[in-house]
Amino acid sequence: MTNPVPNLEAELPIRQLVITLVLIGMSIAALPIGFHLLEMRDPYVQQVLAKPGVTDRGYEIFQVNCAACHGATGDGMVGPSLRAVGDRKSRLGLIHQVISGETPPMPKFQPSPEVMADLLAYLESLK
Ligand code: HEC
Repeated sequence: MTNPVPNLEAELPIRQLVITLVLIGMSIAALPIGFHLLEMRDPYVQQVLAKPGVTDRGYEIFQVNCAACHGATGDGMVGPSLRAVGDRKSRLGLIHQVISGETPPMPKFQPSPEVMADLLAYLESLK
């Protein structure tokens, strides 16, 4: 037996649920884009990218803060090998990796823009 009159009372909550789920899905999908734009305009990122960055100084900073996990030459130990990491990650991606603390056990670092620029130069020199 078919009922030609749709049961509105039963359909309404389902429609609301579907709409809510679609809206949540859209906001989640937009999140990375939002963060990306935010970071490009981030004054810290702009200060880092404005500095030339000295590879030798970056090497020293790396030995003190990063080598315990990534190895003295970035070949990897607890942390992954950083060889040619500059080909895999953008400059923004590298800065984000160092300052975000999003991938434990790697800690969140807060280097000054100058120190970050030196680190960036060193990371990009790893072939
Ligand atoms: C406590 C250990 C630890 C320390 C200290 C550490 N890292 Fe890491 N690092 C990791 C781990 C683990 C990952 C992998 C994270 C993941 O993707 O899940 C990682 C990932 C990375 C990546 C991304 C590699 C890729 O292939 O995408 C970069 C770049 C990096 N680390 C740079 C650094 C730098 C620069 C420092 C020092 C300022 C540092 N790390 C200090 C553990 C560490």
